Order: sequence, then structure tokens, then C-alpha cells
Amino acid sequence: MISLASCLSRVIVFVAVVAISTVLSHTWEEEGVVYGKINDTITLQCNGHNGSSLVEWKFNGSPDIPWGFFTNVRDLQLPNVEPSVMGNYTCHGQEGEQLSSVLLKVGHPPGIPSVTCRASDYHNFSCYWNPSMENVLPTRYITSYRVDKGVPEVCVQNPAVPNMCSVRFSKLWTLYRMNITEINPLGSNFRILDLYVQSIVKPDPPENLSVEPIPQAPRRLRVTWAYPPTWPQEPHFQLKFRIQYRPVLYMVWSVVETANLSDIITDAFVGVEHILQVGARDFLDAGTWSEWSPEARATPWTSEEISGSVPEIVNETTTEEPEPEFREPFADNGDPAEKVAVLISLGVFAFVVLALFLIAGAFIWMRVDRTVKYGGMKADFLTAIHMKALPKTQIL
Ligand SMILES: *[C@@H]1O[C@H](CO)[C@@H](O)[C@H](O)[C@H]1NC(C)=O
Ligand SMILES: *[C@@H]1O[C@H](CO)[C@@H](O)[C@H](O)[C@H]1NC(C)=O
Repeated sequence: MISLASCLSRVIVFVAVVAISTVLSHTWEEEGVVYGKINDTITLQCNGHNGSSLVEWKFNGSPDIPWGFFTNVRDLQLPNVEPSVMGNYTCHGQEGEQLSSVLLKVGHPPGIPSVTCRASDYHNFSCYWNPSMENVLPTRYITSYRVDKGVPEVCVQNPAVPNMCSVRFSKLWTLYRMNITEINPLGSNFRILDLYVQSIVKPDPPENLSVEPIPQAPRRLRVTWAYPPTWPQEPHFQLKFRIQYRPVLYMVWSVVETANLSDIITDAFVGVEHILQVGARDFLDAGTWSEWSPEARATPWTSEEISGSVPEIVNETTTEEPEPEFREPFADNGDPAEKVAVLISLGVFAFVVLALFLIAGAFIWMRVDRTVKYGGMKADFLTAIHMKALPKTQIL
């Protein structure tokens, strides 16, 4: 019994070695380490069991500790600690024997981490955070969420990917309340973030972007790409795409949008290398556009005699282009039904304009006729306007 008691007391003594006076500092995670908050006062206690009362403190092996004071014969007080006082403190008995050793680390208590969440598809999302500040103190995160204010569930962290947690099998139109809690030996702090999955959808960039010239078409480039592999190909969740392109030496991008997995650029510059990138977004505009894909480059087709050293300007003015210069508004997807629809609506529009014009003309004629009957200045005035406004053939 006695040996057990003394053994126990030794354990207690050993634990007490690293105990210090202030409430703000206590051991956490690492053994033999004392954590202090910057600008706090920390008291290191020498709890060795050498009967004698006088001890000596050393900092990293040196007895010189100008920033420290003895509060009594054994304890060392460090007022207003700064990162520069971090190090190994040892206390020694009169024969120089080491009685206890403490590693002091000084840092900030946890702040509120900054958190962003992103879904690369509709079934999964992940949250990423940044520590509230640079901190030498060991820091960990407890990540949880509630669905529609239900019980907390764990947002799973992957040890291989720090500062990230994932929620699987997520639901649409459902409120997720994320809680990312930062913890270090000096305390804890948390960020709450409310989100709906559809508002944080951001697909990965499309892949396999390829660009090719089209034979006989010096202003065209054919562009193809593939869905990002992370996006599940389901009928309900389609992506749309946009391509940005520019000549290599030109800084301004042109952008076209399409729902297809290919497109034809019709206004490329003749004989010039172009850079292209493609991005994706949920078809119904949920969330945000993806990042741009890695770029691809290509030069439109050029005929034998002008390829090579002839300057581009000469190409444009001297060669006959088989391609039409202007890009029809419906050239993006080349759907023939759509072209017909556009032509029909243009025709209808022209007809309406013509009809309005004729009606207005007839109306003015009637007014003029009537006013002329009453005579006077007004008639002349109106006629003058009228003669200016209408071509001669119609007046005469
Ligand atoms: C969700 O994410 C994980 C890991 O990123 C991935 O393996 C999985 O295929 C994704 N989709 C679903 C439905 O879980
Ligand atoms: C967030 O999580 C931490 C750690 O689990 C918890 O202490 C805190 O109360 C939670 N905050 C809210 C608002 O749920």
C-alpha cells in the first residue's frame, strides 16, 4: 500500500512539474509543454523533489534569463511573454542536477476561422478554412453540421488534406448549418456558416480541351471538350459551357456560350495562333462558373501559298475568303431548327415594321389633306415636314 501511495505521489509530482500558475495556460496535447498567451504573465514552477529550497533556472541551457523574476525561491515568473521567450526552461538543484524541464510555447488563443464551402457536384460538398492567424500553438478543428436544425453530424476530415472537411450524400433545397471550431491549448472559437448546396455548386473545369483548324476555313476553329469527371452525368444535372478565346498577342478575350460539348469559332484571325479555355456551370445557373480549364492553342487553316512569312494584314486583304466574315447570332450551336426560327422571326419583324411605316404614312397623308382644306400656315408647315420626311416619289 505504501509503495503504491508513493508511486502515485510521484506521478502527481511529475504532472505538477508542468503545471503553471495562470488559468489561461495549461497542458494540451504535447507532454512537458506549457502554453502561454502573448502578453500574459506566466509562472513556471520548479516541482522537483530535492528537499532543498534553492533552485536555479536555465533557459536553453544558459542561466541568463533577464526577463524572468523569482516570485519565491523556486518559481520563475515571466511577465508580458512574447514569442522571443519561447524555449526550454530547466530548473536545477544546488549540485546542478536537473529537477524539472518545461518547454514554453507562446501564441494567440483561437480566432474565428474563415470558411468557404464548395460543391463540385450535387452529391457532395466540402468546406475549406484558413486558420484565424499564424500560430505556433498546436491547433485542431472540430467540424460538424446540422441539417435543417437537426442533431449535429460530423463533417468528415481527411488527414491527408488539412483544413478541409466533406459532407457526402448532400441534399438540395436543404439548409446546412456548418460549424467549424478552431481549438488550441488556449481555448476555442467557431464559425457558423449557413448554406444551400445549390448555391455553392461550382463544377470542376471541363477536361480534354482540344482545338483544330478546319480545312478551307481560315477564320474558323473547331473546339471540343469533355465533362469534368467529377460531375455525375445525369439527365437532371447538366452543365453548360463557355469558351474564351483570343489571338496570342491580343489581351482581350471573346466569349461564347453553348450547351454542347463542341463549338466552332467563326471569327478567328487569319493565320494567327489563338489561345482558348473553357469553363462550365450548372445548366440552370445554380452556383458559379468553374475555373477556366488549362489553355489550348491552335492556328486556323491557311492555304499553301500564303502560309509562312506573308504578314497577316496582306492575308486579310488579298486572299479571298471562302468563309463569310460575319458571325451569325445562331452560329454557336448550329441547330437548323433554331436557324429557321430566327429567319421566320426576322421576316415577321420586317413585315411589322413595314406595316407600321405604311400606316404612319397613310395617317400623315390624311392629316395633310384635312389641314389643307382648312388652309393657312399650318398646312404649309405640315406639308413642308412631310415633304422632307418622305421620298419624292411618294409625294408626287
Ligand atoms: C463524393 O466525393 C468523394 C470524394 O471526393 C468521391 O469519391 C465520390 O465519388 C463523390 N460522390 C458521391 C456520390 O459520393
Ligand atoms: C460548434 O461546435 C463546437 C464544438 O463542437 C461547440 O462547442 C459549439 O457550441 C458549436 N456552436 C454552435 C453554435 O453550435
